[in-house]
Amino acid sequence: MTIRGEVFFLTGLAAALAAGWAGLPRALDRRIPQPMEFSHKVHAEKAGQSCEDCHRFRADGSFAGIPPLDRCAGCHAAPMGATAAEKKFIAEYVTPGREPRWAAESAQPENVYFSHITHVKRGKVKCESCHGNVGSSNALPPVYVDRISGYSGKVMSMDACVECHRQRGLEFSCLGCHK
Ligand code: HEC
Ligand code: HEC
Ligand code: HEC
Ligand code: HEC
Ligand code: HEC
Repeated sequence: MTIRGEVFFLTGLAAALAAGWAGLPRALDRRIPQPMEFSHKVHAEKAGQSCEDCHRFRADGSFAGIPPLDRCAGCHAAPMGATAAEKKFIAEYVTPGREPRWAAESAQPENVYFSHITHVKRGKVKCESCHGNVGSSNALPPVYVDRISGYSGKVMSMDACVECHRQRGLEFSCLGCHK
C-alpha cells in the first residue's frame, strides 16, 4: 500500500469506528413500553390537578414519585369522558384493581444521592428546571434502558447537577453527591 493509500485507509477506518461508536448506545438501549397513554395536559386542564396531587411527598419527606392506582381510581371509577385510552385504563386497571407498571425515565445510579424534597421545598427549584415540559405535555417521555448496565436512558448528568450548583454558588464535595 502506498502512503496515500494508507492515509485513505486509516481515515476510512476512523470514520467507520466513529460511526459505529455513535450508533452503539442506541443499539444497546431497549425501549420500555408504558402500560397506557397518559396526558399531563388533560389532567392539568380538565381535572385541575397540580403536580403534587399525583407525585407526592410522604410524611417523612421521601418522594413517592410514581403515583399508585388509588390516586386515579376515585375519579375514574366510572368514565369521565369518551376516549379509548380512558376506557382501556378502566377495564384493565381500575375495575380489576391492578396497579399499572409505569416505567420511569429518570433514574440515578445507586451510588448517587438525590433528594427531591431538598430541591423542591428547601431549594425552591421548579420541576421544569430538571424535567423540562413533561408535566404539561400530552404524552409520556420515551423510556430506554441500557441493556448492559440496566440504567434508564436518561440520567441527569453529573455536569448538569454541578452546573446548577455552581450557578447558585453551591459547591459540593464528591461525597456530597456520592455514597
Ligand atoms: C393525574 C396525575 C398526575 C399529575 C397531576 C401529574 N403527573 Fe406527572 N406523571 C403521572 C404518571 C401516571 C406518570 C407516569 C409514571 C412515571 O413515569 O412516574 C407521570 C410521569 C411524570 C414524569 C416522568 C418521570 C420519569 O422520569 O419518568 C415527570 C417528570 C412528571 N410526571 C412531572 C409532572 C409535573 C411537573 C406535574 C405538574 C405540572 C405532573 N407531573 C403532574 C401522573 C401525574
Ligand atoms: C381529579 C380527577 C382525576 C384524577 C385524580 C385522575 N384523572 Fe385521569 N382524567 C380525568 C379527566 C377529567 C379526564 C378527561 C376525560 C375526558 O374529557 O376525556 C381524564 C382522562 C384520563 C385518561 C384519558 C386521556 C389521557 O390521559 O390519555 C387516562 C388514560 C387517565 N385519565 C388516566 C389517569 C391515571 C392513570 C390517573 C392516576 C395517575 C388519573 N387519570 C387521575 C380526571 C382525573
Ligand atoms: C433538581 C432537579 C429535579 C427537580 C427540581 C425535580 N426532579 Fe424529579 N427527578 C430528578 C432526578 C435526578 C430523578 C431521578 C431520581 C432517582 O433516580 O432517585 C427524578 C425522578 C422523578 C420521577 C420518577 C419517579 C421517581 O420516583 O424517581 C418523577 C415522577 C419526578 N422526578 C417528578 C418530579 C416533580 C413532579 C417535580 C416537581 C415537584 C420534580 N420531579 C422536581 C430531578 C429533579
Ligand atoms: C436547577 C438547579 C439544580 C440542579 C439541576 C441540581 N441541584 Fe442539587 N441543589 C440545588 C439547590 C438550590 C440546593 C440547595 C437546597 C438548599 O439547601 O437550600 C441543592 C442541594 C443539593 C444537595 C444537598 C442536599 C442535602 O440534603 O443537604 C445534594 C446532595 C444535591 N443537591 C445533589 C444534586 C444531584 C445529585 C443533582 C443531579 C442529579 C442535583 N443536585 C441537581 C439545585 C440544583
Ligand atoms: C452535584 C452532584 C455531584 C458532585 C458534586 C459529584 N458528582 Fe459524580 N456523579 C453525579 C451524578 C448525578 C452521576 C451520575 C450521572 C453521570 O454519570 O453523569 C455521577 C457520576 C460519577 C461517576 C461515574 C461516571 C460513570 O460514567 O459511571 C464518577 C466516577 C464520579 N461521578 C466521580 C465524582 C468525583 C471524583 C467527584 C468529586 C470531584 C464527583 N463525582 C462529584 C453527581 C455528582
